[in-house]
Amino acid sequence: METIAVLTSGGDAPGMNAAIRAVVKVCAARGIRVLGVEGGYEGLIDGKMTPLTRPTRKGFVPTRAVQDHGNTGGTFLGSARSKRFMTPEGRAEAEQTLRGFGVGGLVVIGGNGSLTGARYLSEETGFPTVGIPATIDNDVGCTASAIGVDTALNTIVEACDRISDTAAAFKRAFIVEVMGRHSGYLATTAAVATAADAVLLPSHDRSADEVVETTSALIRAAFAADRDKSRVLIMKAEGMDVPASLLARRLEEALEDTEIDVRATVLGHVQRGGAPSSFDRMIAGRMGLIAVEALLAGQSGVGVVWQATVEGGNETSDPQLRTFSLADILAETEAMNDGTSPVVEWRKQRMEAIQGVLAL
Ligand code: F6P
Repeated sequence: METIAVLTSGGDAPGMNAAIRAVVKVCAARGIRVLGVEGGYEGLIDGKMTPLTRPTRKGFVPTRAVQDHGNTGGTFLGSARSKRFMTPEGRAEAEQTLRGFGVGGLVVIGGNGSLTGARYLSEETGFPTVGIPATIDNDVGCTASAIGVDTALNTIVEACDRISDTAAAFKRAFIVEVMGRHSGYLATTAAVATAADAVLLPSHDRSADEVVETTSALIRAAFAADRDKSRVLIMKAEGMDVPASLLARRLEEALEDTEIDVRATVLGHVQRGGAPSSFDRMIAGRMGLIAVEALLAGQSGVGVVWQATVEGGNETSDPQLRTFSLADILAETEAMNDGTSPVVEWRKQRMEAIQGVLAL
């Protein structure tokens, strides 16, 4: 294989640039040219390619852009959510573009939507394609972590520590809404890390009235005279569909016989930015290497996973990484979304087991 292309697609995640860097360095070391696709699958269809390796007398070296951005957040190649690539015609055009540029294999870095695109490109056109999971939501099947999750969690923890400082000054209750689409992973994990008092998850499927009733009772109990609480923190997943500001207002109404103030903070896109943590850089580097090795070994339609959460897949040269077919990864994603995955069941049981502990 003489040329490999790499693209980032969907929501950006800190560590995407480190994954690009890894792909480029591994390829350069093996005498393979790398082209970066600008703007995700949209750019792929339109042939927006930029060289990420520079030829020297001895072979290839990474370009300046690769070196400069490896430790930064976002994606220097740009991203997009492409409607055209969702159609077989769009994918056929993309394949033609890749072949026209002499590309022999493609590495796709992104979340479920991006990996679905990679799967169909590989299945429909036979173009050698390997996926690397990168999304702060941690909702990609089969992998214990996607690139970006750890950095987002660190950002949430830092923000909650700051919120706790001001909350404690006034003995206030705060609703903190975190990202994660339909997944409650960031909310549950951050709740444990920040010693939140409760978590409001998408899967709870309760009415707004029920949430207000139980949460106001929890806040009331937390600030009771026999307790020594300085603040109450309620971690809310964005997929739990009562808006944080509405919830705060309704809680204040339910607590109007007390002096308790309730405030809401929606952390939003702050969680997506920032320099990647050492963990995200580390898994990005290792996933990048395995993705290139998979392409060179003739694999296609597979994704690289970190510490597989399910049995199966293929061994790689890294004991912590396996490759799974993208079809299997996406089937597991589906099972996580509809709650039938044992992984979700386990997480749910853990959360139920600690609900009483969180409130202490
Ligand atoms: O998938 C990553 C994510 O940040 C989700 O957590 C969030 O729901 C969504 O993307 C936000 O998308 P956008 O950046 O298009 O508003």
